[in-house]
This record gives sequence, C-alpha cells and structure tokens, in this order.
Amino acid sequence: MTVFTRRKFLTATAAAGAAGIGLSAAGKFAGWAAAKPEPLVLKTAGIEAKLAEAGPTRNVLTYGEAGPPPVVRMRKGEPFAARLVNGIDDPTTIHWHGIRVPNKMDGVPFLVQPYVYQGDHFDYAFTPPDAGTFWYHPHCNTLEQMGHGLTGVIVVENPNDPAFDSEVVINLRDWRLGDDGQFIEQFRPRDAAKTGTYGTVRTANWLDQPQYDAPAGGLVRLRAAITDVTRIYAFRVDGAAAAVIALDGNPVPQRFAPDALQLGPGQRLELAIRMPDEEGAIVSLRDVRGTKPKVLATLRAVGKSLKRDLRDLRPLEANPVAEADPGSAKHIALALSATAENVPGDGICGSLGYSFWAINKVPWPGDTPDPTAPLAELKLGQSYVIDMENLTPHSHPIHLHGMSFKVLSSSTRQVQPPISDTYLIQPDEKVQLGFVADNPGDWLLHCHIIEHQKTGMTSYFRVA
Ligand code: C2O
Ligand code: CU
Repeated sequence: MTVFTRRKFLTATAAAGAAGIGLSAAGKFAGWAAAKPEPLVLKTAGIEAKLAEAGPTRNVLTYGEAGPPPVVRMRKGEPFAARLVNGIDDPTTIHWHGIRVPNKMDGVPFLVQPYVYQGDHFDYAFTPPDAGTFWYHPHCNTLEQMGHGLTGVIVVENPNDPAFDSEVVINLRDWRLGDDGQFIEQFRPRDAAKTGTYGTVRTANWLDQPQYDAPAGGLVRLRAAITDVTRIYAFRVDGAAAAVIALDGNPVPQRFAPDALQLGPGQRLELAIRMPDEEGAIVSLRDVRGTKPKVLATLRAVGKSLKRDLRDLRPLEANPVAEADPGSAKHIALALSATAENVPGDGICGSLGYSFWAINKVPWPGDTPDPTAPLAELKLGQSYVIDMENLTPHSHPIHLHGMSFKVLSSSTRQVQPPISDTYLIQPDEKVQLGFVADNPGDWLLHCHIIEHQKTGMTSYFRVA
C-alpha cells in the first residue's frame, strides 16, 4: 500500500460537524437528541488471517482486530451511528451499500466527503428507512481495500419481522492468493476488459464451506451478501425446501425457489429454509454457475424436529420506497459500452490506469477529484425511468446509490418487479428501472465489478 500525506481537506473535526448537519436534516424522529446512540467504532486494521491451507495470509484488511468485519446490526427507523477510525496507511471511507442515507453519509470521496487519512476518523450517523440485508465497504482504492478484506454485512432488523428459529448471515467473497497463501496481483488488465479478474480462494465468512447448526424442522433465515469484487453467483439449495423471501434488502412480491438464481457483486439474497426433520441432515447452499460449482456453506439439523412449515411464514413488510409515476416519469437513456480510450491513473483512490468501459460513452473511474459532469440533473420529487441498455458481451451489476428503483421491464426475461439498488444486466439486455428522485445530492451509479467501475463504468446523478 502507498503512504499518502495529509492534504488540505477538511479536518476530521470539521467532517464530524458535517455529519451533524446530515443528521439534523434527516432527523424526522422526535426525541432524536436524547436517543443519540453510542457510535459503533469501525477501525480499519491490517492483520494476518487463515484463509488458505498454505498458512496465514499477511496484509489482510478488516474492521476490528481479528477475523472478518463484524456483522453490523441496525434497526429500521432507529438512529444509527458509527465512527470510522482509519488504522491503515491508505485513505478510506465507508459506503453503506443499499441504505438510503443522507448524501453526506454516503462515503464517496470528493463527491460527498473528504478522505479519512491514517489516524483520522469520520462520524457517520443516519436512520435506516428500510429493513433488510445490506453491506458496507470503502469507496476509496476499492479494488485493493475490498480485495484485501474490507467488506462487511449489515442487517437492518424490523421488529415486525416474522419469527424464525435461527438466522445465518453469510459474507461471500474470494481472495487473490498464490500457492503460498499470500496476495498476488489484484487484477490482470486483460481480465478487467472482460469479466473481471476472479479470486483464487473462495470463502463464506472467510472460511471454506463453513457449517452452521440449525434446529431440525425449524425455519432458518439465511442472509447472504455477495461482497466479492468480481464473481457472479448462481444459487441453489440442496437438502431442504427453500424460498427466496427478499433480494437486495427488499421483500420479493412472490416467493420462489432459488433454482440457479443469478446474483452479482453487491447483491443480497434472503432465503427461508425449512430444515429437515432428522437430526444430522445436511442442507447446502451452492453456487452452480460456471464449470466449477461449489458448496458455499452447509447447515446441519440439530435436536428434535420443530415441525415448522414454510407456508406459515408471514410475508415481510414492504419498505417505504416511493413508486415512480409512469404517467409523468421522465426517461433517462443509459448505454453501457466498451471503450478503448486510455486514461492515465491519478494514483490516489482513482483509476487503475486503464479505461475499458463507459456509460453513455463517457469513461470515468469515479472517486476522483475531477468528476465528469453528472449523467443527468434530476429534479427532487420527480419520477424517472432509466432505460438502460447493455451493449457489451458481459454482465454488469449496476448499482445506484441513495435511492431504490423498481425493475419495470426487461427485453430478455420476465421480471416480477423487485425493488433494488443493484441490477445485474445481461449482455444485450434492455431494462427499465423506475424510481423517484427523492433524495437530494450527488449519487453514484456504477458497475459493482470493481475493475469495471474503476476502468470507466461509473457516473452519477445530481438530485436537487
Ligand atoms: Cu457498493 Cu458505490 O458501492
Ligand atoms: Cu461491469
């Protein structure tokens, strides 16, 4: 990692002040001042971790002192606060992926907040409006920092959720390690220009095929987040009845069995699994995509059967996401393309030194001090439909910050209109995403295959 010296950005104290402003703007909740929560400290650290057979891997990054970043728990509609303390010699930030936060809390350097340098801190505070499974990661030097470990899962609880007998949270990601268990180069340009560079070691919660106990005959809520920088998954569950109950933090309109369900980096899956009745029976969550299918994690039935029934599970409560009005919605054309134009890297938080991709023909790596013009300037409160077209031969998980959209239609498949923040668009697909521009600020839109993001497939909307 590179050592960067402090620049003349806002100091941490000023930044904390800005956090306070973000708060009161969002402080719709009475008694906020009294209820101000103790901040959760998320301190970045370089550690050693056992990720591969060969022995401990050096220069692994995490939040905390050891092991994977903690699962961060919040409650829908209740104030949350976290203090990012930077303990590594690389500037960083935290982005709360999928959570509709005030713009100042969004963690994108330059666009909304200063870098947090080694030894400095930044206070995040917001009230999550939606319940579901989300995740957090830096938005600075992301290929390196996320590639080395800084990806954690967020659970936003809803007190009105139906009762499960157990909950399992799974953070899915790979590592680029050599035979000696040490990091190898994070990407290869020729792969960045295609699917992205795959990891060599695959993990769930930083383990190879971990096993978790769950009550026999019980209902398990399995939350999985794809926090990998590259890999697209196709999920299947063997050994038990399972239903997809939510995707990307939002309940699905109709539950369905995860039969090779494809999800990309940034996306989340919530399953209700009915454990087998016999003690010791094994249920496996598998990735069946590509030529090397893999068991990601297993559940083992324990105890006497609870005899639960999947059909008894009440539906999850919908999140309060505004519906775009089709009559008055304005359309935004968005074309994803490959470009061969070369841009020099700015070295800090910015590009990888290549430009392979573009949105509406403009390649931009994002997180740079010289943003391009916004893709569009949106009017606060107005409905929009993004007409997105994939002109490339690869799939792209396209993520919008700050607002959730509804998938209205696709040229290649039936969609049961899910609400989401990340859409995995297939080659040659055209899709319509409807949303209300109800969150003011500058909001990134980018591919979550980080090599695509950092080699041009990034843009942003301005909502004012
Ligand atoms: Cu997961 Cu720009 O973010
Ligand atoms: Cu992409």
